[in-house]
Amino acid sequence: METLNYIHIEDKFGAHNYKPLDVVLSKGEGIWVWDIDGNRYMDCTSAYSAVNQGHCHPKIRKVLVEQSEKLTLTSRAFRNDQLAPFYEEICALTHSHKVLPMNSGAEAVETAIKSVRKWGYEHKGVEENKAEIIVCEENFHGRTLAIVGFSTDDNARKSFGPFAKGFKIIPFGDAKALEEAITPNTVAFMVEPIQGEAGVKIPPDGYLKAVRKICTDNNVVLILDEIQTGLGRTGKLLAEEHEGIQADLTLIGKALSGGFYPVSAVLSNEAVLGLLKPGQHGSTFGGNPLACAVARKALKVLVEEGMVENSAKMGAYFLSELKKIDHPAIKEARGRGLMSHRVLLPRHILKMSATVIETRLLQETRPNQIRLHRARRHW
Ligand SMILES: Cc1ncc(COP(=O)(O)O)c(C=O)c1O
Repeated sequence: METLNYIHIEDKFGAHNYKPLDVVLSKGEGIWVWDIDGNRYMDCTSAYSAVNQGHCHPKIRKVLVEQSEKLTLTSRAFRNDQLAPFYEEICALTHSHKVLPMNSGAEAVETAIKSVRKWGYEHKGVEENKAEIIVCEENFHGRTLAIVGFSTDDNARKSFGPFAKGFKIIPFGDAKALEEAITPNTVAFMVEPIQGEAGVKIPPDGYLKAVRKICTDNNVVLILDEIQTGLGRTGKLLAEEHEGIQADLTLIGKALSGGFYPVSAVLSNEAVLGLLKPGQHGSTFGGNPLACAVARKALKVLVEEGMVENSAKMGAYFLSELKKIDHPAIKEARGRGLMSHRVLLPRHILKMSATVIETRLLQETRPNQIRLHRARRHW
């Protein structure tokens, strides 16, 4: 079948909830992907940070195949021999006390919202149904109904209401705004350490440290959504490490499976996830043996192959080279680790779209902005 046939069939039968480039990919390896005509592209989107280990990493693939020949899904009505080691290994790696595995990133966010509300009512003493969660303008935490309800992107919200109550929106990067927004009913503050979808927006230095202190002082749970920034993307295993802090809840997903399988997780202190009782939350596939085996290997690969350090090194090099480009089209280049971004002057964007985007698989986040997420390594 030819490219145009694929496009036609997709457009005819599929919901148009994405607007992809007209490139039909059929193979991936490391940082490279190939289309059905054999053209090779450097994947600068890295599946929105889900293939931090590179496309089709051979060691993760081997585990996926081996585990799929043994046991894939048991339901959580039984125990399986991959879940306990997954819990133990991920908690040791991320200094967490408890973990709750789900599938997509949005499910991890929903899990966090439910858990902190429960913590608010049962631990902090907030009156039932009064819990407030503070979030930031231009946030991106996924696409479920609760989540788009507190999005500030009109396109994500319009025609999907009514939405859940209990969310307050403040500017990103403004610690004082957080302090002022907290009330006795505030149970949590949820924020991305770097806003990815908003265009790799890096908060001022000291912001995470300041919000950590404000949350501690006010008995408010700090939730860091590291679904995109986590697992080495920014040059540290978790982006919170850039400011030497630890969130109460950390949400990860995407590269937790190296792109092989949807796996996400809520990493928690004892207090929050410790309150959940049987029947109060779960998912048929969450914590299944295939997911756990793949996630265990995906984490091992990140650590054993030095990918986190490589992200810091290559990201710094990449950004310094980007900054050297003296071209009237480039207004700004910013980034941390291998999460970077170029802001182009509007008059140049069409020309860029026609050339660079087609040959490099970049992604336009805003009309004049391009996000770059290189895979970490090509073995
Ligand atoms: C910061 C952040 N949170 C949550 C999500 C949602 O993850 P998923 O698409 O797996 O539901 C994303 C996805 O891009 C994200 O970047």
